Amino acid sequence: MAAGRGVRDEREVRVERRVREEKAVAGMSEGLSSQGPEAASPEGVGGFDLEAIRSEFPILSRKTYLNSCSLGALSRRSEAYLDDFRERWHDMGAAAWYEHWLGRIEELRGRVASFWGSEARELALLPSTSVALSVVAESVEAGRRDKVVCTELDFPTLVYQWAVKRDIELVVLESPDGIRVDPEQFAAAVDERTLFVATSHVFFTTGNVQDLNALADIAHGVGAWCLIDGYQGAGQVPLDLSSAGVDFYTAGPLKWLLGGPGLAYLYVRGEVIQALEPRITSWFATEGQFDFDVRGFRYRSDARRFEMGTPALPTVHVALGGQEIVDEVGIETIVERNRMLTGHLVRRCREEGFELLTAEPERRSAIVMVRHSDPARAVRHLAGRGIIVDHRPGFVRISPHFYNTVDELEGCVEALASI
Ligand SMILES: Cc1ncc(COP(=O)(O)O)c(C=O)c1O
Repeated sequence: MAAGRGVRDEREVRVERRVREEKAVAGMSEGLSSQGPEAASPEGVGGFDLEAIRSEFPILSRKTYLNSCSLGALSRRSEAYLDDFRERWHDMGAAAWYEHWLGRIEELRGRVASFWGSEARELALLPSTSVALSVVAESVEAGRRDKVVCTELDFPTLVYQWAVKRDIELVVLESPDGIRVDPEQFAAAVDERTLFVATSHVFFTTGNVQDLNALADIAHGVGAWCLIDGYQGAGQVPLDLSSAGVDFYTAGPLKWLLGGPGLAYLYVRGEVIQALEPRITSWFATEGQFDFDVRGFRYRSDARRFEMGTPALPTVHVALGGQEIVDEVGIETIVERNRMLTGHLVRRCREEGFELLTAEPERRSAIVMVRHSDPARAVRHLAGRGIIVDHRPGFVRISPHFYNTVDELEGCVEALASI
């Protein structure tokens, strides 16, 4: 039972939750004159069985879980895949590789590819975003280009990638408001020396969503590559890589895709794959992987040429369960619910007088930063009440996902206000 509910009847809580949910959606539709992103339509959440979805995730009945941008909840579905993995290991040992596990890897590749609008051959599986970024950096020919443009709002691992390269001039764009960086700033910073525009889809602290098409156009306009860290994007905001125009997009199952740690996904635009020959590699990258011929290295013709060895098989299984649920719920429903929940959270925080660091509604995602003088203490206080959120310097970070409820957000805001 979630925190603060005491011993109230479970059914009563459910009914109350539904009523609140409906009111929140209706209130938003009425409250806005135009159909802005906060105006989730009631039909959009119809057909979505919240209780059934919530019962997939044990943590939701134990805690008020509002930290999906750090780690998505673990589902029963993922556990079943993990059980299957363990059983085959007990039963078959290494034979399970050929008969099952290589197939699971391709199943995951296919699912993720169709989820984000790419072809399976455009997707490589890697151990982490950092490794994915390294292999991209070691795949392009720099020629006379020695400049990389990032922003101060990007996740550090993206920026560090270039900071350690002595021959690269790293340009870190400053945010005018601590929330966003404008496309015009990128346009002014790039030139014929630029090798990469390397930035985030969604900024990890402010939740601001960047315009991928605009970034790709700016990079390509000067002949540079467009590399996007999409870890905070994939699974919570609309994404179609077939039309985004970017060359590289990295993400992983850990957060919004509900698949745990140990794996990253790297998209490489189909047209450019064959022109890229990574200078770091592995036996997974060669056409003759199972020839075991030390003289026979030939880059694969697809994105597997970027792979760096055996992927974390337990994570492949957990990620399959998470991806299945995301696919079944549907990204449209997820986006719509997350907008509704985030809109509600922002409104309630403002009503309580909290200062927020959050993007304009049309660029907002489900990451809400609440300014706090002692965020670590606030997070501990909430944790004491069974409410899991996170903190970053100066802020409490709250990140709901489609499986959360308005009721839970109310409990979180009340608990924050009670400090
Ligand atoms: C935007 C972003 N990029 C990258 C990472 C992590 O990178 P890695 O997979 O290398 O640990 C995170 C968080 O864990 C993140 O929020």
